[in-house]
Amino acid sequence: MKKLITVMALFIVANVFAQNAIVINADLGKDKINKNIYGHFAEHLGNCIYNGFYVGDTNKIIPNSNGVRNDLIKALKELKVPVLRWPGGCFADTYQWKDGVGPKDKRPSIINRWWGGVTEDNSFGTHDFLNMCELMGADPYLAANVGSGTVQNLIDWTQYVNGKQGTSPMSKWRVENGRDNPWNVKIWGVGNEAWGCGGNMKPEYYANIYRQYSTFMGDWTNGEHLFRVASGSNGSDYNWTEVLMRDIPHNLMEGIALHHYSVIDWNAKGPATGFDEKQYFTILRNALQMNELVTRHSTIMDKYDPKKKVALVVDEWGGWYDVEPGTNPGFLYQQNTIRDAMIAGVTLNIFNNHCDRVKMANLAQIVNVLQSVILTKGTAIIKTPTYHVMEMYNVHQDATMLPLNIKTNEYVFGNEKLPAVSASASKDSLGVTHISLVNIDPAKAQDIALEMRGDKYTTVTGRILSSNKVQDYNSFENPDAIKPVVFNGAKMNNNKLTIQLPPNAVVVLTLK
Ligand code: AHR
Repeated sequence: MKKLITVMALFIVANVFAQNAIVINADLGKDKINKNIYGHFAEHLGNCIYNGFYVGDTNKIIPNSNGVRNDLIKALKELKVPVLRWPGGCFADTYQWKDGVGPKDKRPSIINRWWGGVTEDNSFGTHDFLNMCELMGADPYLAANVGSGTVQNLIDWTQYVNGKQGTSPMSKWRVENGRDNPWNVKIWGVGNEAWGCGGNMKPEYYANIYRQYSTFMGDWTNGEHLFRVASGSNGSDYNWTEVLMRDIPHNLMEGIALHHYSVIDWNAKGPATGFDEKQYFTILRNALQMNELVTRHSTIMDKYDPKKKVALVVDEWGGWYDVEPGTNPGFLYQQNTIRDAMIAGVTLNIFNNHCDRVKMANLAQIVNVLQSVILTKGTAIIKTPTYHVMEMYNVHQDATMLPLNIKTNEYVFGNEKLPAVSASASKDSLGVTHISLVNIDPAKAQDIALEMRGDKYTTVTGRILSSNKVQDYNSFENPDAIKPVVFNGAKMNNNKLTIQLPPNAVVVLTLK
């Protein structure tokens, strides 16, 4: 009997210690979570621009401002999109910006050779994009054509959008085309995926090309320097980052990119909705790999740039699946489920926790393509689960990251395991602390013991995004099936929180 009691006591103790535990160091915050980590990406791909943002300026059915649909802009303003990358992607290295300015009926049509071979009539161009960013309150991030462009073309583009009236033939042309004041575009990508669709270059070759292009981009913004982003590595190609950091003078480069998609297998990506648990697990494992990628690329950057002046810019990320049945394979149109909410939640936590080096990230793509936040169909739009996560997390924008220690249970599938709980925390300019928590386990709830160190708190409130199944999504028939609701599963006692996190859930807590 005595032995049984001892065994039972040990069992109880073991289970108490198996509980998830988080300590947040509220007095150790020093790095700001750059709001641009919550950035997005718009590409001339499928129905992202045409039939997505842009419905045409003669459209009388869908309410629009100069052809850009109003409901979309309203939803994206509410999301607080800080920065929007455009026009690609692979499309960027085929794009001739001069084809997209001036009277629309005079603009040449081209074939969009990367995405579906459709006709691109250039009716959405530089003015349309930059004016749309102004409407949305987002900073534009222009991705320049290096793969098939010229240095002069890029110089012309920078002068066109940033030159003061009367300072160059390009700024004169802009005024003739209806825009007096420059847009002062600060963020510029120098090519895209130079290792692949951007020219199949070797890093040493691209580093030289980069040096040339960035030299002539110069400083056109009234004394303000441009933020130039070098085309970065394909996932774990660490040599790419090493060569660029070594061979490009750092006064010519403000950021270096990194692309990482969560994909099961490039030849069998699996469905966006009716996936099984193996596919769920694999996608989450690939999403969590972002932590290793960011850590290892940062370590290489630290070697050449210990003061962290060059930013790591994850300007393409997200889940990538097979296209929806019956849709154009070149349009990459996919639905968005709670699985995508999990990807967004854990990835944004990783970026927040690495905000000393990661200064911008751009989810691919904002509307109607890969891990989109909005899907459109005729006059209707829906907000996806990913939209809701980005909206819940926007409290972290420009807040001070609070470092944390975490001990988490595992989400076990077969012989494999992943950390079940992910977290990040920040304190905003008003002194309010926010904690974002994700439980990726699709079956097991998580009890979390969370301790706030270094500051005093008395109240906790929260919001939760979840659903019964990880395959659940918002459809045009049921657009609000998944949306954030009040979370009552956190209790505060003496600066300590006990939290019950349901399966496959994203929670954001507010502490005062
Ligand atoms: O997001 C789709 C494509 O993926 C982008 O155009 C390209 O940069 C990447 O390979």
